[in-house]
Amino acid sequence: MTATKQNAKARTPEDPARRDPGPGRVDDGLRQFGLAVVVGLLLMAPMLGIGGQAVYKTWRVQHDARRAAYELSQAHERLIAAAAGPKVSVDDAVHGREIFSSACAACHGPDGKGMTGLGKNLLESDFVASKDDDQLREFLIVGRPDAKPVAMPPKGGRDDLTDNDLRHVVTYLRGLQDARRMPELPAMVVNKAPSEEQKAAALAAAGGDAELAGYIASGDKLFHSTCVACHGKAGVGMQGNGKALVKNDFVKSLDDDGLLAFIKQGRGPTDPKNTTGIQMPPKGGNPALSDDDILDIISYLRTLQGERSNTNGTK
Ligand code: HEC
Ligand code: HEC
Repeated sequence: MTATKQNAKARTPEDPARRDPGPGRVDDGLRQFGLAVVVGLLLMAPMLGIGGQAVYKTWRVQHDARRAAYELSQAHERLIAAAAGPKVSVDDAVHGREIFSSACAACHGPDGKGMTGLGKNLLESDFVASKDDDQLREFLIVGRPDAKPVAMPPKGGRDDLTDNDLRHVVTYLRGLQDARRMPELPAMVVNKAPSEEQKAAALAAAGGDAELAGYIASGDKLFHSTCVACHGKAGVGMQGNGKALVKNDFVKSLDDDGLLAFIKQGRGPTDPKNTTGIQMPPKGGNPALSDDDILDIISYLRTLQGERSNTNGTK
């Protein structure tokens, strides 16, 4: 009853226009709708434009970054594929090699191919290939002191290196990266001659014993080329790398044979005795060291223990 009433009411044509919209009315409605759409689009246009631009910009930045990363990842391959540059100077390369073997080889390996858990492979480094000589020299001055787990110390930890030394290391790296540029080099001669300063300090530490002073001075010289990068000048240690060897209980606890065996073997990062998680490489990463060389270094280490040592410093 009620439903029928309502139905009847709903069907009642209250607005005649709605019941029969004439053809003109439909046109009108469409026109208004179209106008609303156009106005709406016009109002939104700047927003759409800015939005689109932002999306494009983000895409562009990401695209450029991907492209740069790709270019960088190909830097060494491109170097090898391109025509070779001129051969590097023999004198500069020989000097560079001397610096490299004393200042860089401990972490980057004697051949520059890198050491697991230490320095990277420099032969195939895209970073090296992508920088010019000046940029590389500037990089070496700064290093990557914050790199984890192992830092690349400024100048490889050798603050005595001059601009010329660094220039020649860079020259040597160029030859290592592209064998076509490396001239034939004469056999390597390791400079083991201690400085006058080192000789005088050794003589004082040996209490005037000239023979012992000779060993200490030689050890001082060798320490400050092979071990200094990780253990610091005069063995004071390096943050995030080798421990201090000054007044060191481990050094004091071993006799010369024990220390010689330790230094020859090193201490890997997984060795239970390792406390830093960083590798102490066998022979400090310098396979050229003979037993006598290492015993000289031990004589020098004894002088850092802050007591009349050398009681077992026999050789
Ligand atoms: C105490 C160890 C140590 C010594 C010594 C050292 N480096 Fe490094 N070097 C590193 C480490 C570790 C890295 C990688 C750092 C990182 O994670 O980015 C590195 C990175 C580099 C790089 C950048 C390589 C790349 O592809 O990003 C160059 C070039 C380099 N070293 C050159 C040298 C030269 C030349 C010397 C000698 C003057 C030297 N280093 C001495 C540890 C060392
Ligand atoms: C590439 C870096 C590096 C070089 C080069 C290096 N050492 Fe080490 N050395 C270490 C690290 C790291 C440790 C500490 C390892 C650990 O956590 O036990 C260490 C530990 C030692 C210790 C034991 C100290 C202790 O308290 O346990 C001695 C001794 C030592 N080094 C001597 C030398 C001598 C001598 C040379 C040079 C012939 C040398 N090292 C070169 C990194 C180096």
